Amino acid sequence: MSQPPRLHALVTGASRGIGRAIAIQLAQRGCRVALHFQKNRAAAEAALAALPGTGHALFAADFADGAAVERLWDEVMAAFGRIDVVVNNAAVYGDHAPLTTDYAAWQQEWQHTLAANLLGPANLCHLAARAMATAPGPFDAAQGRGRIVNISSRGAFRGEPHAPAYGASKAGLNSLSQSLALALAPQSIYVFCLAPGWVDTDMAAEYLTGPRAAEIRAQHPLGRVAAADEIARTAVFCALDAPATMTGSIIDLNGASYLRT
Ligand SMILES: NC(=O)c1ccc[n+]([C@@H]2O[C@H](COP(=O)([O-])OP(=O)(O)OC[C@H]3O[C@@H](n4cnc5c(N)ncnc54)[C@H](OP(=O)(O)O)[C@@H]3O)[C@@H](O)[C@H]2O)c1
Repeated sequence: MSQPPRLHALVTGASRGIGRAIAIQLAQRGCRVALHFQKNRAAAEAALAALPGTGHALFAADFADGAAVERLWDEVMAAFGRIDVVVNNAAVYGDHAPLTTDYAAWQQEWQHTLAANLLGPANLCHLAARAMATAPGPFDAAQGRGRIVNISSRGAFRGEPHAPAYGASKAGLNSLSQSLALALAPQSIYVFCLAPGWVDTDMAAEYLTGPRAAEIRAQHPLGRVAAADEIARTAVFCALDAPATMTGSIIDLNGASYLRT
């Protein structure tokens, strides 16, 4: 009996944190993984070395630059030939509380955050969806023609008083994911969105060890924030196992720290 073809996955922001954990778990499930990073090549090479299996490769791009996203996609397609799973995980977070940020810095934060966290993923979704919809196959009915998993944030719902552009970028990503789920379901392309609360990664480290640490932990009835592996497990479920009827879902992963209705 012939083996099913090996799935190809592109994970953005795979050099560190949640993206690294997702890349490792996808490789453990047999996927060939394109690991994207921005500038931290040493961390990206360490992540690549941690993946079981062969054929994985690194690709660099700044998601705030639309042309760089297209270049990234072209490079990945040239190397891999086909991408079945895209995980939009890379993002930036910068404090810019409204009352303590001057106007120039405020504008800069909004432009950079929306470019990296919303426009970059939107551009990658566009490129990936068009390629998935026209991929020659073979077509696996359960897996669909392709899957997109977008990593959002609890902040899209709860608000981000210290980083409103970040919260807005993630609210936009939620809406983008749901619009794409509607647009792409007829092509058997499925779109999922994850909304984690605080996760123990570089992005959160400064806050989890700083003056707000006690207040942040107190938000969590589990008594701890999430581990990157827990978010990765859910992302891999969406990428490989979730039923098609879950397309369009936004999945909360915040340890009951924020229960939306
Ligand atoms: N940590 C949390 O508490 C938390 C909570 C909710 C949601 N999230 C979301 O989870 C995802 C992963 O977060 P994380 O905590 O794992 O982040 P992280 O540890 O800070 O890692 C960020 C990753 O994104 C890449 N990146 C940063 N800026 C980029 C840019 N302009 N263009 C392209 N890539 C860029 C980094 O590449 P380099 O290594 O090359 O810099 C790195 O691989 C993000 O979408 C984040 O918003 C995180």
